[in-house]
Amino acid sequence: MSTKETIFVIGATGNIGTSAVHAALSAGYNVLATVRNTDSAEKLFKNLGGRKEGITTVEVDCVSETGIKSVIEKIQDGKVPGFQHVYACVGGPYSPLPLTEVTTQSLRDHMTINFEGNFFAYRATIPYLIAQAHPTSTWTMCTGSQGEIGEFAAPAMSQGALFSLANCATQELKNTNVRFNEVYLGLRVETDESAALHGVVKASEFAEVYVAVLKAGGGMKGQRVLVEKVEDMKNVRWVAKIKE
Ligand SMILES: NC(=O)c1ccc[n+]([C@@H]2O[C@H](COP(=O)([O-])OP(=O)(O)OC[C@H]3O[C@@H](n4cnc5c(N)ncnc54)[C@H](OP(=O)(O)O)[C@@H]3O)[C@@H](O)[C@H]2O)c1
Repeated sequence: MSTKETIFVIGATGNIGTSAVHAALSAGYNVLATVRNTDSAEKLFKNLGGRKEGITTVEVDCVSETGIKSVIEKIQDGKVPGFQHVYACVGGPYSPLPLTEVTTQSLRDHMTINFEGNFFAYRATIPYLIAQAHPTSTWTMCTGSQGEIGEFAAPAMSQGALFSLANCATQELKNTNVRFNEVYLGLRVETDESAALHGVVKASEFAEVYVAVLKAGGGMKGQRVLVEKVEDMKNVRWVAKIKE
C-alpha cells in the first residue's frame, strides 16, 4: 500500500487540472482525478504524455450538487483512496459579450460551471479534510484576472464570486489544519500540445506554481499567489487575501 499523500484534483481533465496533476506527480504525490467519463480520462492521460502511474480516476459530474459529495461517500466505503490535499479548477464557459447582451442562460452557465463547481467541491471536501486532521493539508483553487479586468462580463462575474469564496475560505480555515490558497492567474495556460499551437503557457510549465504552493509550508496560508507574468512561475510571489 502506498504511503504517499494524495491530491484530489477536481476538474482534472482541463487545462489547469492537467497542470495540477503534472505538479502533483512531479512533487511525489498520488492523484485522485475527477473525470466525466472514460473519454475524458483518456484525454487526461494523453495530455500527460501517456502517464497513468500514480493516478486514480473517479467518474463524477463536478457541476452536480451531489457529485463531489458522492466521491467522499465512496472513500468512506473504501471504494476509492482518500486524500490529504485538494486542487479545485472546474470551469469552462468564456463568453466575450458585454453586460447588456449576457443572456440569463449564459449567466447561469458561467455561474454554474465556473463558480458552483468549485463551491460544491469546497463544501464537500473541507469537512472531510478537517475530520482527517492531517497536519499539513492544503486546499488550492485557481481564479482568473478577468474578474479584476472586467472585459468579458460573464466570465468576470463568475471569477468575482470565486474571489469572494476565497476570502470566506481564508477566514473560515484560518485556525484549522487546512492551508487554503488562491492561485490568481493572469496568463493563458493550456495543455501542452494546445499551448504549443496557440503560443500560450504550457500546463507543464504552470505546474511549477503548484509545486511551489505545495512546498511553501505554513508561511503560505490564506494567500493569493500572483501569476501575472511568465517570470512569476519561477519566482512565486503572494499577498494576503484578507488585509489585517
Ligand atoms: N486556462 C487558463 O489560462 C485560465 C486562466 C485564468 C483562470 N482560469 C480558471 O481556471 C479554471 C479552470 O480553467 P480551465 O482552462 O482548466 O478550464 P477547462 O480546460 O475548460 O476545464 C475545466 C474542467 O472543468 C470540467 N467541466 C467543464 N464544464 C463541465 C460541465 N458542464 N460538467 C462537468 N465538468 C465540466 C472540465 O471537464 P472536461 O475536460 O470533461 O470538459 C475540466 O475538467 C476556471 O475557473 C478558469 O476561469 C483558467
